[in-house]
Amino acid sequence: MRLDPFKLERYLAQYEFSAPHQLSCSDCDGLALGDVLALAGDETRRLWDDLRLGYTESSGHPLLRAEIAGQYTDVGEDDVLVAGPQELIFVVTNCLVRNGDHVVCTYPAYQSLYQVAESLHCEVSFWEADERSGWRFDPEVLASLVRPSTRVLVVNFPHNPTGYLPSRDEFDAIVEVARRHDLTLLCDEMYRGLEHDEAQRLPAAVDLYEHAVSLSGMSKVYGLAGLRVGWIATRDARLLKRVTGFKDYTSICSSAPSEILSLIALRARVQIVERHLARVRRNRDVLADFIDTYANLFAWNAPRAGTVCLPRVLPETLSADDLCREAVNDAGVVLVPSSVFDYGDRHVRFGLGREAFPDALAVFDRFLDAKLRGVPMQSSAAIVESPAPPAAPAPPEPAAPPEPAAPPEPAPALDASPPAEPVGSGSWDDRLASADAVPKPEVELAPEPDQELPPWEDFPPSAKDAHPVASTPLAEPAAALSATVEDALPLEPDLPEGVERGAGLLPDGFFDGEPEPLILEPEAPVDEPAPPPPGDQDS
Ligand SMILES: Cc1ncc(COP(=O)(O)O)c(C=O)c1O
Repeated sequence: MRLDPFKLERYLAQYEFSAPHQLSCSDCDGLALGDVLALAGDETRRLWDDLRLGYTESSGHPLLRAEIAGQYTDVGEDDVLVAGPQELIFVVTNCLVRNGDHVVCTYPAYQSLYQVAESLHCEVSFWEADERSGWRFDPEVLASLVRPSTRVLVVNFPHNPTGYLPSRDEFDAIVEVARRHDLTLLCDEMYRGLEHDEAQRLPAAVDLYEHAVSLSGMSKVYGLAGLRVGWIATRDARLLKRVTGFKDYTSICSSAPSEILSLIALRARVQIVERHLARVRRNRDVLADFIDTYANLFAWNAPRAGTVCLPRVLPETLSADDLCREAVNDAGVVLVPSSVFDYGDRHVRFGLGREAFPDALAVFDRFLDAKLRGVPMQSSAAIVESPAPPAAPAPPEPAAPPEPAAPPEPAPALDASPPAEPVGSGSWDDRLASADAVPKPEVELAPEPDQELPPWEDFPPSAKDAHPVASTPLAEPAAALSATVEDALPLEPDLPEGVERGAGLLPDGFFDGEPEPLILEPEAPVDEPAPPPPGDQDS
């Protein structure tokens, strides 16, 4: 099995604990241990105080599973399996598909939702969100993607990275496609519960369809990513048994303290979610004002649910990669460019779950303002000042910039010579007219396997790779970077001596070229076994 690097996670790993201003995180701020314990009731406090740190039940603590099951209408505690969400994507996919199966997945996407299937030599078709219609996923387009070999439909609602949430009718139509074609529906509901208008909350997929798997967890909605606890709920008992068995090869069971803390938090979910939702709504409004202010630079479809959204960078010459690179290097502001989702170079993801979002946005505002005015931003010192964990790469020592004798002559701001029709106004078609089209993933279809494969149970994992593979690259790697922020906002002044723009945390070539795949096990021999001589097939 070959897994491509998880671009989003590799990107965030560089900055999440070293740069001071986070604008792109998808989780809500982590709760303090003491704050969680303060929410405990008598029973859970006792469980915590008496906790033994041995192995736990491999399906999850029965009280935790019962609490989780209570969130659904048609699910009992035996329909629930507790494990890390990312782990569950890996394990469930491994249990659902085999070489040559066809999978449909929402796109852009959290990478593992399709990457694991691709790595298992499945063909993946991408069901793409339509930016021009508010990031809508059209159920009719979905229906057109299904083939006889389609086994699994993977969706993620509320959607990361766009913040899209289908209407109830659309969701019913999606479930209907799965039902009509007898597909397993893997529904990533990690952000369910953070609908900006709670009346728009969708039912969980598991409550609508007997072959659905609802995936959720503690990281996003509850601000407890450090617990590494999530779950699946499904009424497909055969699948659940398989997943439970596979998990014996990954984590075996969950961490005992994490299970009890999850139980405490789930029992106090109304309190926790209310607070997080209020913060997300506030940050969304702050971002809306910001985008209005920078209507020449950004346009967006406001998110409907969850913590994230994906505004478009409007000037054609401004690469999202460059914008993000310069924001982190010059101002310590972390934004995720769409290239880490293999989704072109025209968008940036904002994350609305952090308390310090308005402050971080104010720093980004100052950064952009300085760029627009041609004034050097000298706050890379902020990165150095932030307490970095010992393992983090040491940021470069900035030379103290000499005090300029006189402030540089402010160059005219973009606003000084606006285009006749501001780019940020009008219909989406108007706004996007001058912007690059979103590149489509190029997916080459693999040949249908020419022989019927045995059912999954008879298919030892080690044998999977012995079959011809259909490894389909998702998309071209991000194009070599050409324009810089200054090219797009051509107001670059000379920097004071000793100040090096762009020196910083982003390693050279991060976005260039095809990354090395992570190889988990040796590849199957390239030579295929010789076909049996004619007439020998039955022997
Ligand atoms: C859509 C989606 N699914 C799954 C995950 C994985 O969640 P966790 O980090 O809790 O394993 C994430 C994390 O960002 C996500 O955004």
